[in-house]
Amino acid sequence: MSTATSEQTKFGPRKGERPLGGHVTEALQTQRNDFWQKGPLLTLLGFGAFVVYVHFRAFMGTEYYAAPYLSPFYSPLVYANPDFFAGSPTFHSLMGNLPQGAIDFWKGMVGWLPIALPLSPAFFILLFPASFRGTCYYYRKAYYRSLVGSPAGCSVCPLSSGTYHGETKLLLIQNLHRYAMYGAVAFIFILTYDFWLALWMPVDASGAPWVSNAVSGTDPAGYQFGFGVGSLVMMLNVVFLGGYTFGCHSWRHVIGGRLNRFANGNSGSTGLTYAIWKGSTWLNERHMPLAWISLFWVMFTDLYVWAVCNGWITDYNTWSMASGQ
Ligand code: FES
Repeated sequence: MSTATSEQTKFGPRKGERPLGGHVTEALQTQRNDFWQKGPLLTLLGFGAFVVYVHFRAFMGTEYYAAPYLSPFYSPLVYANPDFFAGSPTFHSLMGNLPQGAIDFWKGMVGWLPIALPLSPAFFILLFPASFRGTCYYYRKAYYRSLVGSPAGCSVCPLSSGTYHGETKLLLIQNLHRYAMYGAVAFIFILTYDFWLALWMPVDASGAPWVSNAVSGTDPAGYQFGFGVGSLVMMLNVVFLGGYTFGCHSWRHVIGGRLNRFANGNSGSTGLTYAIWKGSTWLNERHMPLAWISLFWVMFTDLYVWAVCNGWITDYNTWSMASGQ
């Protein structure tokens, strides 16, 4: 076998080189006669719609809280901006209200734009889940195929025919995934806490539902326990995102995949590790469907909060039933 051929076996065809196996060589050409475009196309549409939606909602910077539900795109809420309708649960934020100096500075920065662009709290959040999902092993396959067309499908000639370097050069950044995983695990706990808060309706001193800081100028006087459709939506968001996160290849490695064996006869402590690793393996085998379900559901959870915020839909819950509304 010549050096060129063994190189090709390792890295795929170089520019101008004829690939092994007799495949046709022009971009996107193939001898397949099935509808191979279907998979990459659906991925492109699904993933593309999600990216557009997330950016739109993040840049809105408002309508992310409908008591007691906080949109996952804005959690943890770093600060509240009382300038905006339904975007001001000050008591829910880590740093209280955004300082006026920061608001003025931002307006000075973006004031020349033809549209109002608020300093959205989502800007401080979305980088973390985006770096996790964007570098996920499943999504790499999905967007390499659907967005870059390299490869576009099995036995289909890629759009670009340069030497493939794997994830050693530009794509080295994909190795960020093992670190982004720790942030993603932290987010599961944060979203679980948000679900807990979604069971407590803020009320004013008279026991009536609390009205946002922007209108009332006050924080809630107390909380009433209950349950609504929104609580269920937020709980399922934690379940699906947890299933996706704890089936991550990096998590599975950390939890037990790095071990040569689980039991050494000297310690019974490996039993729990093995059980968690088995659970992670079960989720890992379902990583692709969980990636899609969790992607859809986190978007739906935000949409639900947005719709309740604007009164487009009614959130059926025990609080309104108790008050006869
Ligand atoms: S491999 Fe998909 S989330 Fe880690």
